[in-house]
Amino acid sequence: MRNGPVSTPPRVLPPNDPRQYDDLAGEWWRPDGAFAMLHWLARSRAALVPPATRPDALLVDLGCGAGLLAPHLAGKGYRHVGVDLTRSALVQAAAHGVTVVNGDATAVPLVDGCADVVAAGELLEHVPDWRRVVAEACRLLRPGGLLVLDTLNDTALARLVAVRIGERLPTVPRGIHDPRLFVDARELVAECARHGVHLRIRGIRPSLRGTLAWLVRRARGRPSGTVDGRQPRIKPTRSVAVLYQGHGVRHG
Ligand SMILES: C[S@@+](CC[C@H](N)C(=O)[O-])C[C@H]1O[C@@H](n2cnc3c(N)ncnc32)[C@H](O)[C@@H]1O
Repeated sequence: MRNGPVSTPPRVLPPNDPRQYDDLAGEWWRPDGAFAMLHWLARSRAALVPPATRPDALLVDLGCGAGLLAPHLAGKGYRHVGVDLTRSALVQAAAHGVTVVNGDATAVPLVDGCADVVAAGELLEHVPDWRRVVAEACRLLRPGGLLVLDTLNDTALARLVAVRIGERLPTVPRGIHDPRLFVDARELVAECARHGVHLRIRGIRPSLRGTLAWLVRRARGRPSGTVDGRQPRIKPTRSVAVLYQGHGVRHG
């Protein structure tokens, strides 16, 4: 008979089950943790956000998670409001200066036109009805306001790279994606246009060299910080077939 503590195996949840974020709550701010790539993407997304042009400017971060965007917005002059379904993530977002709203990105309890910027990072591919999120994002934007987002395309290549390969790497939690929810890039552009936002998209990917160096440092137990210069860079790619980023201004 074996002695010692009895450990409970991690529960296995269906793909994209939001309870996974509770189980992974301790990973959000670990630079070598399961959400590491979200930090790299947050930095790249924040680079699309210009400094605020007026006092009291508001940035609404839909599906904000634990607020990983916050350090990259520092000094840009926005009040950062984060909306998310997962309370355990919002507690951490609040600790990083985000004003949190526990709610659904398909029905946000904020008034029309309140936002100078709406961000939706790595959210659409987790929502069964992403069109409703787009409608809400555009409703929240004031005329002239900016939408910034990134998501996964609804392609065989994205399913291969982001799920079958990506979820075997330490940068993406296994089972976090349901590929049936991935978002066709052309449909997303068309849907944004229907709501007055001319979305410009580009493919992105983490730098291969930076990712390899990160994996080596991680294996040696020497991770980089969450916001330091050694984090792998997100680079533009010619193809939008896997991961893509979009930004566009709301007209009228
Ligand atoms: C992959 S994480 C991205 C978090 C954050 N945007 C980031 O990039 O660090 C997806 C987040 O979306 C949230 N989420 C999923 N569906 C949602 C919905 N319908 N409304 C609000 N948040 C949602 C999850 O709780 C989770 O925090």
